[in-house]
Amino acid sequence: MNKPKHNANSWIIEQKWENYSQSEHDIWLRLYDRQYEILRSRACKPFLDGLDALDLHGRGIPDFRQLNQALKPLTGWEVVAVPGLVPDIEFFDLLANRKFPAGRFIRKPSEFDYIEAPDIFHDVYGHVPLLTNHVFADYMQAYGKGGQRAYGNFDLKQLARLYWYSVEFGLIRENGAMKIYGAGILSSPAESVFALESPSPNRVEFDLTRLMRTNYKIDDFQDIYFVIDDFDELFQATLQDFEPIYRSLKSASAFSPNELTAGDKVVTYGNHEYLKK
Ligand SMILES: [Fe+2]
Repeated sequence: MNKPKHNANSWIIEQKWENYSQSEHDIWLRLYDRQYEILRSRACKPFLDGLDALDLHGRGIPDFRQLNQALKPLTGWEVVAVPGLVPDIEFFDLLANRKFPAGRFIRKPSEFDYIEAPDIFHDVYGHVPLLTNHVFADYMQAYGKGGQRAYGNFDLKQLARLYWYSVEFGLIRENGAMKIYGAGILSSPAESVFALESPSPNRVEFDLTRLMRTNYKIDDFQDIYFVIDDFDELFQATLQDFEPIYRSLKSASAFSPNELTAGDKVVTYGNHEYLKK
């Protein structure tokens, strides 16, 4: 097996929490307040429970030292600061070791509604609360291990799609209603409403092979959302060795994001009403 030289820990930097200015804390608080209003009825319960468990309400930019004191005893996960996007294999290594890499910078006031690179609000507010949930925590680690297995052996595109359509843009069924668990949605006020309420996108039952074959858009709201029944479905699907899927998809063309396929179990058709399961 290919064993490239890499050291994920060399990407970890100090957060230097003391260096945040009051105006940076204020940006967090404004983002937080706006998003909490939108999400209290739209986010899945484990996310809202995670905000409580980590005491993330109304305190400004979290200090990772305090955050980890609350998080680590719960699921063994910790948040580590990184300078920006981490290369694939180091990213996989960090997740496989229950370390979640987070940017330490916060957006400027001019970027209040949209930023290109994920900042600390996206990374921490969007991703970290769910790491308090045991099944989701196991899923994230399993994803990292899946990445370690694939790296150097397979195209990582399919795996990136799994992350995109689950960790970033996933929907989950909760007591018959759809809720949000993807961090890309949870950290975006407009997409939080769009993902659940817009008649425009297709919402389709989670199907790993189908999902791994689906391209995604990075510069606009999604055309398709995949809906899971619970985190265990995600975790179980990720425990398997993906090699047979990679092989089966090697010569298959990718689906475009707005395309439906014959095997899709559609929850809501684009521009149609929500069909309850
Ligand atoms: Fe993210």
